[in-house]
Amino acid sequence: TRGGIEFAVADLEAAEFGRKEIRLAEHEMPGLMAFRREYAEVYPLRGARISGSLHMTVQTAVLIETLVALGAEVRWASCNIFSTQDHAAAAVVVGPHGTPEEPKGVPVFAWKGESLEEYWWCTEKMLTWDGEGPNMILDDGGDATMLVHKGTEFEKAGAVPSTDDNDPDEWKVFLELLRASTAADNSKWTTVGAGIRGVTEETTTGVLRLYQLAAAGELLFPAINVNDAVTKSKFDNRYGIRHSLIDGINRGTDVLIGGKVAVVCGYGDVGKGAAESLRGQGARVIITEIDPICALQAAMDGYQVKRLENVLGEADLVITTTGNKNVVMVEHMAQMKHQAILGNIGHFDNELDMAGLARYPGIRRVNIKPQVDEWVFPNGNTILVLSEGRLLNLGNATGHPSFVMSNSFSNQVIAQIELFTKHEEYDKEVFRLPKKLDEKVARIHLDALGGELTKLSKEQAEYIDVDVEGPFKSEHYRY
Ligand code: NAI
Repeated sequence: TRGGIEFAVADLEAAEFGRKEIRLAEHEMPGLMAFRREYAEVYPLRGARISGSLHMTVQTAVLIETLVALGAEVRWASCNIFSTQDHAAAAVVVGPHGTPEEPKGVPVFAWKGESLEEYWWCTEKMLTWDGEGPNMILDDGGDATMLVHKGTEFEKAGAVPSTDDNDPDEWKVFLELLRASTAADNSKWTTVGAGIRGVTEETTTGVLRLYQLAAAGELLFPAINVNDAVTKSKFDNRYGIRHSLIDGINRGTDVLIGGKVAVVCGYGDVGKGAAESLRGQGARVIITEIDPICALQAAMDGYQVKRLENVLGEADLVITTTGNKNVVMVEHMAQMKHQAILGNIGHFDNELDMAGLARYPGIRRVNIKPQVDEWVFPNGNTILVLSEGRLLNLGNATGHPSFVMSNSFSNQVIAQIELFTKHEEYDKEVFRLPKKLDEKVARIHLDALGGELTKLSKEQAEYIDVDVEGPFKSEHYRY
């Protein structure tokens, strides 16, 4: 605690650099800045106490300061152990008007390179307020939501379940934290859960978890699925990845991508951006898919569609984008070419069998630099694994650039305002934002790019059965 602000970041002295990059990012985030102007005198988030779990980057700093400008109090943690940009975290704590000696910003608990124990400690800190608890969650991947839900569930049951050796480390560490926190206060999470008006979720994987909770009737509060706003998943997941995938590979390895064979597992929104990113560098790209529709799209886009086991001998790079588990197993890794690059850009590291790799008989790990490891198989073959299998665009590089994140975060701000101000109108289910707001977000960003939108005449609007002011498409339109 300094200047009355609780925080845990790597180095507050980095705040000045962070502030400079935040200033540059603000210009590239016209959506967020437009909301600051639009709500300058309204403060729609006054009274909101937002606990946020989302990669603590420069772009997220602009989001946090937008929420504050709209009247909210905020506490923040990162949703991944490697994704924090330490200078951004420091600048958010110091705030635009503070100094490292006298910070005046927002409590942040995040640094690059947390252990799993530290990660969950940060997440708990972010959800633990002085006095009254949080009343809103802003989540990315669903870990904050999971902590509140599992905590509530185990408090009701009167015990945290025990673990055995087969459980993944992550789960063991998570339960250990819950054991300690419920021992200290056996109604902590029930109280937090009861105080939450709603959660807004950023990504595909977190949204999946929310729909599962809702289907089981276990969702404790209403949720808005931000990911499936068109201006989020069809932009961030695709065009963001197109930029940040090769950024991560380049900063991690500096290997020439042109002429190489790159396998992309999954051809959803992220996979489409990943494939384009690698093809743009001159790689020959091969796609693996389980869904015939996405597989056919890949074929039509000019990529080969193959099974992973049939292309391991030629792949120079293998990138997973599925949001699924056990996609590349250690048996696959053992067959890869010498010094092939393996990385994941889906939300969780379980797309790659990292546990199996670590247990492989005779395997040796040589750390090259932070977030780059060479794994040496007993036959001398090696593979390069990026960010220990965690999302490599945020682990090896700085994630998506500001302009695309402005689209995503504009939807986050709209969703926070909606659930905070109108929570009584929402059941404990998962909702999406109205198309009109999606079009508003697109309009702001199109304007910033100097795009000229054609105006619909009244006659034309009647002919295609839409309003002159939009929405311009039906709900089932797929873009
Ligand atoms: P999506 O559902 O659009 O695409 C995933 C694709 O993987 C689907 O087409 C599915 O059929 C395919 N798939 C599933 N299992 C497979 C398997 N075993 N082998 C091959 N293909 C398989 O999801 P989206 O939006 O593309 O997101 C993917 C992941 O990326 C999620 O975990 C999401 O949270 C994450 N994400 C990461 C970002 C980052 O910055 N690193 C940004 C946005 C999303």
